[in-house]
Amino acid sequence: MHLAVAFLASALVCTLALDNGLMRTPPMGWLAWERYRCDIDCELDPKNCISENLFMDMADRLSEDGWRELGYVYVNIDDCWASMDRDKQGRLQADPKRFPGGIPKLARYMHDRGLKLGIYGDMGTHTCGGYPGTTLDKIETDAQTFAEWGVDMLKLDGCYSNATEQAEGYPRMSKALNATGRPIGYSCSWPAYQGGLPPKVNYTQLGEICNLWRNYGDIQDSWDSVLSISDWFYKNQDVVGPAAGPGRWNDPDMLIIGDFGLSMDQSRSQMALWAIMAAPLFMSNDLRTISSGARAILQNKMVIGISQDPMGVQGKRLLMKKSGIDVYWRPLSENTSALVFFSRRNDMPYRYQTSLGKLNYTAGTYKVFSVFTEKVATLKDTSDFVVSVNPTGVVLLYVSAPAKHRQFHANAKLHGPAYFRHDDLDNAIPPSFL
Ligand code: GLA
Repeated sequence: MHLAVAFLASALVCTLALDNGLMRTPPMGWLAWERYRCDIDCELDPKNCISENLFMDMADRLSEDGWRELGYVYVNIDDCWASMDRDKQGRLQADPKRFPGGIPKLARYMHDRGLKLGIYGDMGTHTCGGYPGTTLDKIETDAQTFAEWGVDMLKLDGCYSNATEQAEGYPRMSKALNATGRPIGYSCSWPAYQGGLPPKVNYTQLGEICNLWRNYGDIQDSWDSVLSISDWFYKNQDVVGPAAGPGRWNDPDMLIIGDFGLSMDQSRSQMALWAIMAAPLFMSNDLRTISSGARAILQNKMVIGISQDPMGVQGKRLLMKKSGIDVYWRPLSENTSALVFFSRRNDMPYRYQTSLGKLNYTAGTYKVFSVFTEKVATLKDTSDFVVSVNPTGVVLLYVSAPAKHRQFHANAKLHGPAYFRHDDLDNAIPPSFL
């Protein structure tokens, strides 16, 4: 009797969870859409249009310029890859002009380099760009086609379908992908088409059927766009935040660092705010010509470490000060955490003074790393410190686990690193992260 109940319970769990085991930390890689769209003529400019060449070039850069080792492994095709017609068996096929070797050739190219290939589809009659969509009768066929091609991830958009079709189609595609037996990460645009909020959006269900989901509008190459997206997610953090966790992520859309619209400070802001949010990190830029400044931000190991924390808890905004400084916080594994001080000001760097205690940290001594300036300090919860935050910029801090003051002194000779032996933690002049 007990066994039967246990079996039933486990069967139930299996059918309720998207148990593909993928994306236990936010996925990282490259996605064509924001930077390349689809309307540039491949004959005029073969390097800058959606084509086999473009994806192979990006794969070369990811595997040769240190990106892959940092976790950037997905190379994702977006809209406009398909022929306008399905084949005689009703299957999607790639546009032979843009992809003469077909998608399997690209998948092999990625796999040979330790990378993964993502593709784009649309739950509806057409993709947003007007290419063939996946109607309800085509779900299983398309899942099977993608699996046979060796695809590793599917972004399923939602243009040209209604709420009823989406409510049937998104869960069915999840099942169909699982049924292929190939692990395929599943990105759902469903919530973005339903306003991103309950009651129309059911975040519990999304976590069970998708690995990530777009909640909100498309990112564009501008600071305004980054800020408005960030503000939407943090404004709704109590609704969307709890939905995130290992294998299931809110997706505020691509990183536009390395493009045209962001200053270096704004680029650090996007990276920090996305890392606190536990957001997927898909760059949409030209890795062949990216500046060394943008590359350093995207390849910063400590910010990637924060983003990829195994606990997978989405961070939140703690404060919005009248001064125009916001404070964000994300709890990380092993009792560590990250803090972001972000400035909405547009005049000059602002010196913001606070202490870990004021930000609700428990009593103790903390080692604090400033991620982008590489400064280190040791702070008691009661010690005031100053961050100097540039206009539209951030200071990102990684904060160690707390240690009790007394323990440090008791064990100083045996274990204590040099900085913990200082007795001057209550400096008269607060240490500053400049
Ligand atoms: C929608 C999506 C974008 C992109 C385009 C392609 O707008 O939200 O991310 O995929 O369609 O047409």
